[in-house]
Amino acid sequence: MKHLLRLADLPITEINRILDCAQAAKTGIYDDSETKRIVANLFFEPSTRTQYSFNTAELKLGCKVINFNAASSSLQKGETFYDTVKTFESFGIDAVVIRDRKDRYYLDLIDRIHIPILNGGDGKMDHPTQSLLDLLTIREEFNHFDGLKIAIVGDIAHSRVAHTNIEVMQRLGMQCYISGPEEYQDAQYDSIDFDQAVETMDVIMLLRVQHERHDQAMSISVEHYHQQYGLTMERVAKMKPHAIILHPAPFNRGVEIADDVVECEKSRIFKQINNGVYVRMAVLKRAWESD
Ligand code: CP
Repeated sequence: MKHLLRLADLPITEINRILDCAQAAKTGIYDDSETKRIVANLFFEPSTRTQYSFNTAELKLGCKVINFNAASSSLQKGETFYDTVKTFESFGIDAVVIRDRKDRYYLDLIDRIHIPILNGGDGKMDHPTQSLLDLLTIREEFNHFDGLKIAIVGDIAHSRVAHTNIEVMQRLGMQCYISGPEEYQDAQYDSIDFDQAVETMDVIMLLRVQHERHDQAMSISVEHYHQQYGLTMERVAKMKPHAIILHPAPFNRGVEIADDVVECEKSRIFKQINNGVYVRMAVLKRAWESD
């Protein structure tokens, strides 16, 4: 069995193998024969894309699926995170997909849970399947990674998507920059002025301001944010002809992205969401490979 916890744990050969499997899944290589497998999606933090695209991937593979509802579970009676996961393992299921607001929640599990754990996002640290679907979308567009320039724009400091992507994209030879409001930047990364990024990058990845992870309210207004750092059609017109727009979503229209940019010709946002299903099929199949 194979967990999927952090992409930083995987060599580039393994990342490329997962992307190849996801691409093959898109062409229909996998059938729905995993009918004996039961997968539980344990989301302790809200999700639409990750939870339900895992759910879709599980159904496409033929698995039976349990979608855990934290709000109506015995967590409300004081049961712990660990005891909840251990309970699902005790049911005899075949894998768990977990999202939790705690950074590296899986450290409490890996020595004591003996079924594959697929990380659906942990705190501000990692979101491996999001990065894999971002990589698949970029690879489909450009057919390579080496030398591509990406600017990730917005709330970098609170973003597991930014941290996971920058680590793996640098290993793949991409030049990664960050941009956005000063209060949300991270000094360990190279920064670039947003309007300069718009004109020079191959990929602009926008991020939502993650208010739920903030101790204090944003210091600038939504209008000011949109004016300074929002991707508008006026800015899109200045992007390089081949450049594309990514966003992990959910997005806030009129804040980091203008309404008419969401589905503009350069946007690959809904393609990312579609690719998420195939990436998740690939990592589920990988979970049941022997070590
Ligand atoms: N991109 C992403 O993780 O979306 P959800 O929070 O809806 O899963």
